[in-house]
Amino acid sequence: MHYYIIIKLVEEANFAIKTAKNINQLNEVRTRYFGKKGKLTLPLKQIIKLNPFDKPIIGEAINKTKKTLYKRLKVHNAKLYKETINNKIAKEKIDVTLPGKGSENIGNFHPITRSLKRIKNIFKNLGFTSIYGPEIEDEFHNFEALNMPRKHPARAMHDTFYFNENYMLRSHTSSIMIRSIEKQNPPLKIFSSGKVYRCDSDLNHSPMFHQVEGLLVDEVVSFSDLKGAIEIFIKVFFEGQKIEVRFRPSYFPFTEPSAEIDVRINYSRDWLEVIGCGMIQHNILKRLNINPKFKGFAFGIGAERLTMLRYGIKDLRTLFNNDLRTWR
Ligand code: PHE
Repeated sequence: MHYYIIIKLVEEANFAIKTAKNINQLNEVRTRYFGKKGKLTLPLKQIIKLNPFDKPIIGEAINKTKKTLYKRLKVHNAKLYKETINNKIAKEKIDVTLPGKGSENIGNFHPITRSLKRIKNIFKNLGFTSIYGPEIEDEFHNFEALNMPRKHPARAMHDTFYFNENYMLRSHTSSIMIRSIEKQNPPLKIFSSGKVYRCDSDLNHSPMFHQVEGLLVDEVVSFSDLKGAIEIFIKVFFEGQKIEVRFRPSYFPFTEPSAEIDVRINYSRDWLEVIGCGMIQHNILKRLNINPKFKGFAFGIGAERLTMLRYGIKDLRTLFNNDLRTWR
């Protein structure tokens, strides 16, 4: 091949580069002239075949031209790239006068979570320390150690979901009472919150609900301390709302005396039971080898019930339906 053909091809390539309108076209030019089967690729390879006299001169000239071509290709490519980006940016202009997307649907904490936070904060401020207890509980901590041996009638109210004879989903957080006394010697002032389970479902019961358990063990503890703590708690929790509290004698196998606490809001007709409590039975502390000078009180708060009162919800199941319209 004569080198003037190469020169002609170089001119042609030069023109093609200059007139490429976008990156795609430029890439086509690159393959057309410099690709594996490119128009210039083969002739350039044939320089080797030139006679020894022409080779250095023509070879050098051609190599220079090739380099220049490559450079142009690069420069033009950069220019086109910049243009593309600029076009894109120009198209993406933001109209700040348009309304924001989804601003009316910002998420929030679930009302039960809010209640739990509120409850926990109050007890922290009263000097109780937060501890953790397992949701999968054993027979001993959920029942036996709390004076509820097998066949005890109180178990009927605590029918829960069993894995086998020995393991179940805890039916209340009172198992924490035993676990914390096992771990740490009194004085103790703790609380723990979490999910509990029972085979129950109606307006005021759900198979899973949340409790906050409180426990205080010390040398001088009386029922009036328990009453005082609960009253302060309820007052702070329902701050700003009209509430009445009533302590009603009750029965729990692990406390004596025991009480249930009902709350009535805005002079409504109905009282709602929200807390179970009492003085810890002596034999429980004795079994755990606690010095008899120690006494204690315990309480279990139903977080869903408090939430219902606070937000005026009549049906507990509303809390689990996840219907956003309820909370608008
Ligand atoms: N664990 C009891 C229940 O779930 C409530 C309770 C807790 C009662 C602590 C007394 C003391 O019904």
